[in-house]
Amino acid sequence: MLEVKNLSAGYGRVQVLWDVDLAVGEREIVALVGPNGAGKTTLLRAVSGIVRTRTGSLEFRGRSLRCRSIEQIVDLGIAHVPEGRRLFSGLTVRANLNLGGWRTKDTDLERVLELFPPLGQRLEQVAGSMSGGEQQMCAIARGLMSQPELMMIDELSLGLAPLIVDEILERLPDIAASGTSILLVEQDVDAALSVAERAYVLETGRVALAGKRVQENYLGIA
Ligand SMILES: Nc1ncnc2c1ncn2[C@@H]1O[C@H](COP(=O)(O)OP(=O)(O)OP(=O)(O)O)[C@@H](O)[C@H]1O
Ligand SMILES: [Mg+2]
Repeated sequence: MLEVKNLSAGYGRVQVLWDVDLAVGEREIVALVGPNGAGKTTLLRAVSGIVRTRTGSLEFRGRSLRCRSIEQIVDLGIAHVPEGRRLFSGLTVRANLNLGGWRTKDTDLERVLELFPPLGQRLEQVAGSMSGGEQQMCAIARGLMSQPELMMIDELSLGLAPLIVDEILERLPDIAASGTSILLVEQDVDAALSVAERAYVLETGRVALAGKRVQENYLGIA
């Protein structure tokens, strides 16, 4: 579904990603892990058209993503849940979710509220006044409102207590099974491998290891 080959990208004259190969298949959950500054966020930004790529290819269902606008990439079916969630914190949960469905004109919130029931009681609440966990649920639900075929989630666990992280992670297999593949960026390797079937380890902009999860918390080389 998503196929990244030999990708190089960066900011201005600074190159961050070097010859990165990565793929995500249908209904799959794939983890992208690595230390601070490895280039995980940069890779997601390259896929969603925020960062220009230099060389290599980026394809989604056989169509090149290079030279497409961010809006065109959303329309192709890719959603990006950014690092730090980036909700419209002064707007209600309902308004945030509706903005997620803006391009598809989707106003049916039922589907995402079923996945994250706590949001149902908070629809008229200002998003910025919710707990971190509820905000992350809202950010993921907003991403799902565009009915994406691929959702990229950057640092799902950032700043959240382990229990709430597990509660959110538990929802990901259902999301994948219903047709939205997930590329999950995490610094918490254990959390990522609790749901991902495959993982890539990014180190200073290069893929240092790629493998299948052989058993829980153990990354075997494919
Ligand atoms: N807008 C930018 N301009 C210039 N350099 C940047 C920019 N954003 C990130 N970088 C640099 O690119 C490198 C990779 O950063 P990136 O944010 O992709 O890493 P990351 O793996 O997501 O790290 P973290 O785990 O801290 O989120 C770092 O050296 C960072 O300083
Ligand atoms: Mg990052």
